[in-house]
Amino acid sequence: MTNIFASQQNDISLDAERMPVHVAIIMDGNGRWANSKGKSRLSGHNQGYRTLKQIVYASQVLGIRYLTVYGFSTENWRRPMDEVGGLMRLMLKAMRSEIEELIAHNIRVRVVGRLEYLPQDLRLEFERAMDRTSSCSSLTFTIAINYGGRAEVVDAVRRIAQQVKDGLIDPLSVNELTISANLYAPDIPDPDLLIRTAGEWRLSNFLIWETAYSELFITQVCWPDFDETQLINAIFSYQQRVRKFGAIMEKSK
Ligand code: FPP
Repeated sequence: MTNIFASQQNDISLDAERMPVHVAIIMDGNGRWANSKGKSRLSGHNQGYRTLKQIVYASQVLGIRYLTVYGFSTENWRRPMDEVGGLMRLMLKAMRSEIEELIAHNIRVRVVGRLEYLPQDLRLEFERAMDRTSSCSSLTFTIAINYGGRAEVVDAVRRIAQQVKDGLIDPLSVNELTISANLYAPDIPDPDLLIRTAGEWRLSNFLIWETAYSELFITQVCWPDFDETQLINAIFSYQQRVRKFGAIMEKSK
């Protein structure tokens, strides 16, 4: 075991040989964080954005290859219009102000979800960011926007049905690999570790197919208060788990 990453605050060492390749995060609790401070929900999202920045670069330093975050779900449209509008503006501002730094850090940006329903300026900004970072090769940072796990599976099934209709595949040959290959980001490996902040014990329609064998880490800490030390704690917890994938004892990674 090679201990190369140490958290000064917790006195924790991570095993460099057993790092999760793909970490996914449900960034929950912006609203509760804001409420507890007598601030607006939007100021919670603003603070959440600052946390996200910190976690993206911390993930890169830790050697994580893929980081996927839940930015806006297909259900989030049910929120008050000013909050939805504020979130869209925040993401637009974030993409515009961060893109050069992301490129400088060799970080690839991907965006998954039903992007056709987003405001046009935001969709174009996301497309530009994906284009401009397409050859970046350190961390792949994926933002799920207007994303729903069930919608993703529905979209995959529609694509497969079309291929069957066009005579390209035999319905009897459809298997789990066919579904995986038709998801939004088929080249990205399934998450090893799924972190959820703010204490709820559910998936909330996030990566429901891809997280079948992911290890879960749920913390009470609200997303705006999540930091590098908490990320290290989550990875440390992951490294203590035995991943069996339905079989008998086998060490993770
Ligand atoms: C959940 O907290 C958080 C969201 C719905 C939005 C997350 C967005 C950000 C962190 C900013 C993202 C910026 C980019 C570029 C992706 P909540 O509002 O559901 O919190 P609550 O459950 O306490 O009300």
